[in-house]
Amino acid sequence: MQSTYLPPSAFSARAAIPDMDAYHALCAHAERDYEGYWGMQARANLDWQVPFTRVLDESEAPFYRWFGDGRLNVSYNCLDRHIERGLGGKTAIIFEADDGAFSHVTYSGLHARVCRIANGLRARGVGKGDRVVIYMAMSVEGVAAMLACARIGATHSVVFGGFSAKALQERIADAGACVVITQDEQLRGGKRLPLKSIVDEALALGGCGSVKHVVVYQRTGGGVTHVSDRDIWLHDLMADQPERCEPEWVGAEHPLFILYTSGSTGTPKGVQHASGGYLLWAALTMKWTFDIKPDDVYWCTADIGWVTGHSYIAYGPTAVGATQVIFEGVPTYPDAGRFWQTIERHGVSIFYTAPTAIRSLIKASDMDPAVHPTNYDLSTLRLLGSVGEPINPEAWLWYHRQVGGERCPVVDTFWQTETGGHMITPLPGATPLVPGSCTLALPGIMAAVVDEAGQDVPDGQGGILVVKRPWPSMIRTIWNNPKRYQASYFPEELGGALYLAGDGAIRDKDTGYFTITGRIDDVLNVSGHRMGTMEIESALVAHPLVAEAAVVGKPDDTTGESICAFVVLKKDRPGGADATALAQELRNWVAKEIGPIAKPREVRFGDNLPKTRSGKIMRRLLRVLAQGGVVTQDVSTLENPAILDQLAKAV
Ligand code: PRX
Repeated sequence: MQSTYLPPSAFSARAAIPDMDAYHALCAHAERDYEGYWGMQARANLDWQVPFTRVLDESEAPFYRWFGDGRLNVSYNCLDRHIERGLGGKTAIIFEADDGAFSHVTYSGLHARVCRIANGLRARGVGKGDRVVIYMAMSVEGVAAMLACARIGATHSVVFGGFSAKALQERIADAGACVVITQDEQLRGGKRLPLKSIVDEALALGGCGSVKHVVVYQRTGGGVTHVSDRDIWLHDLMADQPERCEPEWVGAEHPLFILYTSGSTGTPKGVQHASGGYLLWAALTMKWTFDIKPDDVYWCTADIGWVTGHSYIAYGPTAVGATQVIFEGVPTYPDAGRFWQTIERHGVSIFYTAPTAIRSLIKASDMDPAVHPTNYDLSTLRLLGSVGEPINPEAWLWYHRQVGGERCPVVDTFWQTETGGHMITPLPGATPLVPGSCTLALPGIMAAVVDEAGQDVPDGQGGILVVKRPWPSMIRTIWNNPKRYQASYFPEELGGALYLAGDGAIRDKDTGYFTITGRIDDVLNVSGHRMGTMEIESALVAHPLVAEAAVVGKPDDTTGESICAFVVLKKDRPGGADATALAQELRNWVAKEIGPIAKPREVRFGDNLPKTRSGKIMRRLLRVLAQGGVVTQDVSTLENPAILDQLAKAV
């Protein structure tokens, strides 16, 4: 029997969901009256300009509609309603800059900024349904730009600032954006990195004729090229704009944003989220999973370029009127005590980060005891969260003991870009915790483990993670590609009605707790960043010397997985220094094609790849080789078994 950690009684006493009885009561309500349950939540947690009369429309399943005839505005729910209730002077954002300077922005101040950006965009003809790409680093302006789009009904697509010009261009073109909002440069770990010049490069690649304006936030004052009639400084766009802006009231199903993420095949998918259902879940999970209270100081270390930064920075915390820290920098600058120092400095009470960051800070504090969390006053912390990848029990225990002083529950939140918000997670005041398990599905989320035919498997037996009923914050479609939406998430093999998460899972026989066993498709998770093997392979074969490539993940103590690429060249296989140099060139090439996060850790060259007689690459063998193992599996179907010896050797 694994150790369990019970919620501290003082925590439960104040918690939104104080015990398992309350949790089961909510689950039972959802089971008994699914629409009644969700309708009640949507009325209780959001302000509607026009109330909805219908909760769920399944007539075009799996294209579900939630609260379809209701009207609302997301930015109104995140800003105005708090101010109307007297919270205008409350700090919305504590911005902690890379260099350690910090500033506070109140809800009224954020509202004014959002309205001025919204008015500036409107003045340039941007309105309901237009797409705006945001390519910015962590900043108040980045969040304000997202909320400004929501205010005028424009659909934003945030592209992570680490993506290359080519990756940015593909996203701008697919979204058909009319405006790109960016900044001159970003500051990370004391370094200045360009953003605006990458936008220039992306637009020069072509296919972006839809873009009429590039709005540039001046962060560093670094020199940028100015294209007249196209480029405008954010401060000029905002100048003379009033601090009030009438919200665009939109239907609940209006697309709030598109966020590109990797799938197992083809190009990145534009995951499209709706307004009402998405915001409902962002707000409600802030209350349930994070047990947010008016006096909390909340800090999520994610980037707005990922879904965590959407739901748990831009929208969730503001929807519930919370005070949050927004951090521009990196965990290791000026030293690896930065997270703990920032928690101490701002009195953070709820902290949400990724296992990769925890693992790297464990290593750093082993090497330099001065940056160990126990050197800092972390007594304000009351809750810790983890997201993006499985958290191994060792990292969980260190987080719980060394950061949380054994008094803070740890919520291991399982969810995805497509799910919009948390799906399977402990409730900090109720759920007994088991390190390494994300425990139970939230009330109303009908998660299950099934076999390849879509039939339930018994607890204790691993299978495929699915969700049996639609839920309000789910993906609505893949932008420009509804067929791919249906095929990827509601495959016929599972009967066409189950949402396929793409992960394997197993439920504990005694507790019913879920443990996620990892992706069941060709998606890698490197430092919590999701990447498709196909995307990296396509980038490699775009290099003039590469004939063929296969990419697999290799387990890594810090980053979860690392990328290992097997490459066949159009010319002879290189050796010695030539191989090392070419491997480095290919790594840099991938960084340029996709972004530095997609760089293979290792590149190996072979005369061929292991293939079946029908020509299929046998990736499972490559996975064994990448880990330095010896292939013991049956290789009788292999066309060219001799190739394994060659590929077993690293460069
Ligand atoms: O494999 C799961 C893993 O991350 C995938 C989703 O990645 P993305 O859409 O980028 O969203 C990340 C932030 C929500 C999932 O399919 N994953 C996410 N959270 C966990 C996890 N795996 C295990 N445990 C988690 N808590």
